[in-house]
Amino acid sequence: MFLRACRGERTARPPVWLMRQAGRYLPEYREVRKQVDFLTLCRTPELAAKVTIQPVDRLGVDAAILFSDILVPALAMGLDLDFDPGPVLATPVRSSGDVARLAVPEVETEVPYVFETIRILRRELAGRVPLIGFAGAPFTLSAYLVEGEGSRSFSQWKRMLYAAPEVAHLLLEKTTETTIRYLVAQVRAGAQAIQLFDTWAGLVSASDYAAFSLPYVKRVLDAVRAEGVPSIYLALDAVPAAALIGTCGADVLGVDWRASLADASRAFGGGKALQGNLDPCVLLADAETVRRRTRAMLAEGAGLPAHIANLGHGILPETPVDNAIAFVATVKGSDAKFTPSR
Ligand code: CP3
Repeated sequence: MFLRACRGERTARPPVWLMRQAGRYLPEYREVRKQVDFLTLCRTPELAAKVTIQPVDRLGVDAAILFSDILVPALAMGLDLDFDPGPVLATPVRSSGDVARLAVPEVETEVPYVFETIRILRRELAGRVPLIGFAGAPFTLSAYLVEGEGSRSFSQWKRMLYAAPEVAHLLLEKTTETTIRYLVAQVRAGAQAIQLFDTWAGLVSASDYAAFSLPYVKRVLDAVRAEGVPSIYLALDAVPAAALIGTCGADVLGVDWRASLADASRAFGGGKALQGNLDPCVLLADAETVRRRTRAMLAEGAGLPAHIANLGHGILPETPVDNAIAFVATVKGSDAKFTPSR
């Protein structure tokens, strides 16, 4: 059902999953994290597969998403990366020399654990739910490589965009080529759909988005399409660029909570399958509010060519698990609590 909705078909009800569904809001995830740090978890296929499946068992979602991080390709490119809890690079990429030194890696050799995790997951999820692979969009990955860590303004990255656009474009070329290799390898290992996260697309104006993000996104999505799997593209907080985003070539467009699904559909140019868009903070309210606002989102989605129910961004660590369960159960049309099948 999830894959049919990705291809733009209307389904009896919208399929549902949650961005960042494997993570710290789940006690069973925190149990695993007591034993190993985040990067070790990403690099240990048996454990990464285990935490990928946890939300499938606990919430009854209609798709699993590979447990990894959008910064894992930075490791493949030869950068020294740590998490605390967000990504931190020991030496950020700041000059044309730094960009020149970056490798466009053989991903199967550099980060083999990602593809091994996918192969394990396809065996363990067989007959249950499809597996989504993912990557950061070149603009968002490059933003972290230059900034070196999360930031409110990403001023180092934006300084490069404005003061040295040719250096920024060289970096975007390298992150694009790396991302293409990384996603093609995920599909060949067994990923059945791909989501591209452009979390920081909204940092710049629509015209700078057109220059620095969209052309690279199109190249990545073309490569995914050539592998025969559907793609989902989420550009966060980028409403002014919606008409441009509508041309990116993704099968499904992600929508955050800032626009209604109906308005977003019009702004993208209409006719697309959409994914979203409940504010993750709604899941911090009481269960009745979660159900009411989820039903309102579903009513909006009913007017779309196809709808995949999701949050408008990742689930927050402080979310009560019962509210995540209430969200999924409301989409599935039963307000009863989900009982795991095993
Ligand atoms: O969706 C899933 O459950 C799959 C796993 C996944 C993670 N990160 C695991 C993770 C996915 C799809 C991501 C994507 C990601 N990572 C994005 C794009 C989506 C978004 O939220 O905008 C971004 C920007 C990152 C970078 C990143 N990684 C940040 C900012 C942080 C720290 C803060 C946070 O949100 O947790 C991480 C660490 C991280 N990635 C954790 C997890 C479960 C928490 C690490 C821990 O267990 O301590």
